[in-house]
Amino acid sequence: MPVFTFNVRVHFGHGERAVLASELAGLGMNRPLFVTDRGVRAAGVFDLATESVSKVAAEQVFDETPPNPTERAVEAGYARYAALGCDGVVGIGGGATLDLAKAIAVMCGDPAPLWEYCNRNPRPRPIVNPPPVVLMPTTAGSGSEVGRSAVIIFDNGIKAGVGCPTIVRAAICDPELTLTLPPAMTAATGMDALSHCVETYCSPSFNPPLDAIALDGLRRLHAHIERATRDGTDREARWSMMMGALEGALCFGKGLGAVHSISHALGALGHHHGTLNALMLPAVLEFNAPVIGERLDGLCDAMGLRRGSDLQAAFADLNQRLGLPRGLRALGVSPEQFEGIARAALADNAHKTNPRAVSHEEYLTLLHAAW
Ligand SMILES: [Fe+2]
Repeated sequence: MPVFTFNVRVHFGHGERAVLASELAGLGMNRPLFVTDRGVRAAGVFDLATESVSKVAAEQVFDETPPNPTERAVEAGYARYAALGCDGVVGIGGGATLDLAKAIAVMCGDPAPLWEYCNRNPRPRPIVNPPPVVLMPTTAGSGSEVGRSAVIIFDNGIKAGVGCPTIVRAAICDPELTLTLPPAMTAATGMDALSHCVETYCSPSFNPPLDAIALDGLRRLHAHIERATRDGTDREARWSMMMGALEGALCFGKGLGAVHSISHALGALGHHHGTLNALMLPAVLEFNAPVIGERLDGLCDAMGLRRGSDLQAAFADLNQRLGLPRGLRALGVSPEQFEGIARAALADNAHKTNPRAVSHEEYLTLLHAAW
């Protein structure tokens, strides 16, 4: 079993946003850069998240997070940080924002071209002197607040991670920050979290503690995703969704699988990450089923289904009940793109830990199945 460590101090619970001011003081952050996006600000969630902080100057708020974080956005955030002489980074938003905040912090200690830090390099540039980072998720999805990397679309068109397992000093997970998240985003981000639990649990890496965490995450997410999507103000459902998202990301050390290798490849074209995962999950699970044996029982148990149930159909039905798009076709993906997507998926890090080896041809088959 590989070494595993939980590096991040996590505050978790309704109202925990109140600790932000004391966390900033404790970490010596007098002038942090707040990274967020315009939607989170417009919805009033940024103000809610920072209500314990006495003053946030307008120029300290960088709200230019794109739907999928890009190398250009990282550079723009770093430029703001440097111009203001900031001393830390606070990310408040969904997975894109939190990943952007982490990548900006990586640049702050040693502003080299971001690609040098990418985990696609055989020897990524080491991260030195990063400023303290505090993250506050406003979705229950990516789990980026405890995740070990920041996934960025680089200028070369590749969507891949910057490994930064130790730069986040504190995560503040307050489910009240998700109460106004619209149903479609609740469903799509929730399916990202759910796919993390399924893929890490099915990964061939041997790690029993993380398996247990992944199954608890799956149990919570599966039991609450429809409730949270139907009634966003359901506090109990929101609590469990946020916990499930956290748990899924705690398991990233086991590695993900073909859902994510394809999703990263398609995401580089601008499609929503969680939606892509939801659409790929049924096909990939069917493909993996012959080699994951009793793991299928574990998945059924966590989802409250009879052992031997058709999990592919269960996930497809769930997508439909959640109102997610019916297939990649509905997102505007065209079969002419599949060759390039399959090539990119083969090169993705998540490809390495899919429980069943996937060939180029098999990637094409999976894409057609999800189309
Ligand atoms: Fe994901």
